[in-house]
Amino acid sequence: MDDKQRVGLEAAKAVKEGMVVGLGTGSTATFFLRELARRIKEENLSVQCVASSFACSLLAKAEGVSLLSADQTDRIDLYVDGADEVSPEKGLIKGRGAAMVGEKLLAEACGKFIVIVDQGKLVEKLGRKFPVPVEIMPAAVSLVRPGIEALGGKPALRLAPGGKDGPVVTDNGNLILDVTFPADPDWHALDAGLNALPGVVGHGLFLRYAKKSTVLVGHPGGVRVLA
Ligand code: A5P
Repeated sequence: MDDKQRVGLEAAKAVKEGMVVGLGTGSTATFFLRELARRIKEENLSVQCVASSFACSLLAKAEGVSLLSADQTDRIDLYVDGADEVSPEKGLIKGRGAAMVGEKLLAEACGKFIVIVDQGKLVEKLGRKFPVPVEIMPAAVSLVRPGIEALGGKPALRLAPGGKDGPVVTDNGNLILDVTFPADPDWHALDAGLNALPGVVGHGLFLRYAKKSTVLVGHPGGVRVLA
């Protein structure tokens, strides 16, 4: 069994009758969603689900999982999602799939956050493998750059890899700057600094959710919980 599948299946065990469940985006979260869909059908489990992205909403539909739109609920009991990097303090970088704004909405709202990753996502320090994705209003594409550079970042507009000319456009109709920072910056200051820039809609640094997070790490021998 794939390590991503192991954690997806494990996380699905945490879903209980009557819960409002946030569905993450990406290949690992897909294993969770498929297992949840199986439980809903086979155990007649009654849960309400909220999608973090258009991609995951399409997948839920294909799996026969009906959805509440995010605006129809004021509570998320459990949110399950993958990540691109996980630090020992349970800080995350998310957004390789361009869905971090919808994902952070659910991470902020949820009572419990289960992060599901394979071992390759664990890093000693954030930013070692991935830049920080920053979602910006299209009109801000030039004007926001000096502000990001003043924080020490080097922004690069994310381009569509194929099938479309030009930049990646998010579910919200915005663009993404992938921002690299010099090694080991003050991530909390950057979190606040990015949030304060006009034109920035959101970003993929998830630093505020460690307390309510359980990180499940898949490895060839099973699943371990990041202490
Ligand atoms: C989506 O925007 C991301 O935040 C994903 O949750 C993250 O990239 C993890 O994806 P994988 O499970 O496919 O690695």
